[in-house]
Order: sequence, then C-alpha cells, then structure tokens
Amino acid sequence: MHLCSIMTEAELYSVYKGVYVPKDFHPPECLRYYEEFNFRQDDILIVTYPKSGTTWMQEIVPLIKSKGDLTPVQTIPNWDRVPWLEEHRASILNLEERPSPRIFATHFHYNMMPESFFKVKPRVLYVLRHPKDVFTSSFHYHKMASFLVNPGTVDEFMEKFLTGKVMFGSWFDHVKGWTHVKDQEHILYIFYEEMIMDLKESVRKMSSFLGKSLSQEVIADIADHCVFKNMKTNKMSNYSLVSSEIFDQKKSAFLRKGTTGDWKNTLTEAQSDHFDAVYEEKMKNVKFHFVWD
Ligand code: A3P
Repeated sequence: MHLCSIMTEAELYSVYKGVYVPKDFHPPECLRYYEEFNFRQDDILIVTYPKSGTTWMQEIVPLIKSKGDLTPVQTIPNWDRVPWLEEHRASILNLEERPSPRIFATHFHYNMMPESFFKVKPRVLYVLRHPKDVFTSSFHYHKMASFLVNPGTVDEFMEKFLTGKVMFGSWFDHVKGWTHVKDQEHILYIFYEEMIMDLKESVRKMSSFLGKSLSQEVIADIADHCVFKNMKTNKMSNYSLVSSEIFDQKKSAFLRKGTTGDWKNTLTEAQSDHFDAVYEEKMKNVKFHFVWD
C-alpha cells in the first residue's frame, strides 16, 4: 500500500486563510511570496477551482499569446509555462523578469487574492465547470496524486467535497466569490462545457478579450492542437514528466476523460439527488447565469 493512502488531512495539508492546501507544494514562504507579489495590468491570470480545466487553459492561452506558434507548449512544461502563483516553483522562476504579458494560474478564492491584485486588476480568465464533473474528476485525481488524502468511498469524498474539506476549500465559496465581483470588466467567465461544445468559439472569445486579433485559420489550428486527444499526447502537458511516485497515472490518467457528464458513471441516483439538494441550498441566492441551469 502506498504510504499516502493512509495519511490524513492533518498530515498532508496545512490551512491557509481557512482552506486546505497541500503542504509540500505550498510552504509558508511561497504563500508569503504570493502575498507580496506585484501584478502588472497586462498580466493574464487563469483562475480555477481545481479540476475545472486549468491544464487546458495552460495550453490555450500561451498559444493565443504566440499566435499559434507551438514552441511554448512543445518546449516548456505547463507548470513553468503558466505557473501557479501559490506554488513553491513560482518563487524560484524569476517571474519579475518575464516579459509582458505574463501568464499565471491560481486556485485561490477571490478573498484570498493579494493586495496588488485589487489595485492593479490584471486580466482574469475564470473557468467554471459543472460541480458534479469537478467532483468526479477530483475523486479520481485523489486516488492517483500522492500528496492528496485518499478519497475513500464516493459517499465519503462527497461529504468532504460538499462541506469544503478538500484542497482549496469549497467549490461553492470559490464560485460565489469570483462571480460576485463588483468590477467585472477585467474578468472573462468561461465554461468548460462551452469549450467542449465549441472550442474555436471559446478561443475566439478569449483572444478578443485579450486584445489579440487572430485569423480564423490560427484559431482553428489552436483549437485543433488543444482538443483532448491531441493534448493528451503532449508530454509537456500530460504530466508524464512527473514521477509515478507523485502521480500514479496507471491508477488514473491526469488527462483522464475530458468530457462533460462523466458524473453519471460515478454517482448513484441517490448520491446525485443529495448533491443537487446541497447545490440548490447553497446557490439559492446566486444571480449569476450558469450554462447548466
Ligand atoms: P477529467 O478528469 O474529467 O477528465 P485541471 O487541469 O483543472 O486539474 O482539470 C483537469 C480536468 O480537465 C480533467 O478532467 C482533464 O481531463 C480535463 N482536461 C484537460 N485538458 C483537456 C482538454 N484538452 N479537453 C477536455 N478536457 C481537458
């Protein structure tokens, strides 16, 4: 048995601003680095609740920036190409010296963002995905990632997920925080489901928000490179460069299924009904329009 499969939240996570973060990747000094980070107005920040399509965006956005030139996605692993600002690597990558526009990712909630974010208002691409699919993706991910607590049964993991006792806290809080932002001019909301339906249109929307005019041909090339089956073969993006001690992709691939509605293969009717009831209750005052409502 893998040692981590018996390790608890207290052993694997620390609590930062009220949410769990995996200890090994987020030591206190790197969280401090993010607190003091200076944004530029033309920075591009990909914000996601985990398992909502971060890796996909780490492929698409650099290609929009490079106007379809594949060099960045074929030569730089996604975690250095679009680093997570809260992760230890961010503090050793000399991000201050990167030319604009810099591209970053974060899983932080809106109310966890550092001071400079609220002053500078960099451009944000906020990606949302149906929470039952986020749950399902996360359930499989927790089985293969050694730095995460073993999910246990679907019922056990669902209890943790719905009460926010998982890494980066509650999906509901994350989504409510980011969709209730008053000044939304610097934020583009993107749904995973829309990207699945029409990736070219999503690439067009993102490039227009980012002020990059791309030809139809370049947009089509980017979308073609980023469809699941093609992206899955990119070793700079499929996490095959990471040791199997950290990601055991024999248990579950990082780029696992890349579809919508896979929760139907994981949840029983009763589990799905319970999830819906909690969703209804927690989201009842939310005005934002979700594509699945
Ligand atoms: P599944 O586990 O449902 O397959 P994140 O990058 O935020 O951790 O999210 C991971 C999820 O996004 C996984 O979902 C993964 O397969 C999916 N994903 C990554 N690249 C994708 C792509 N090109 N097309 C569709 N889904 C993709």
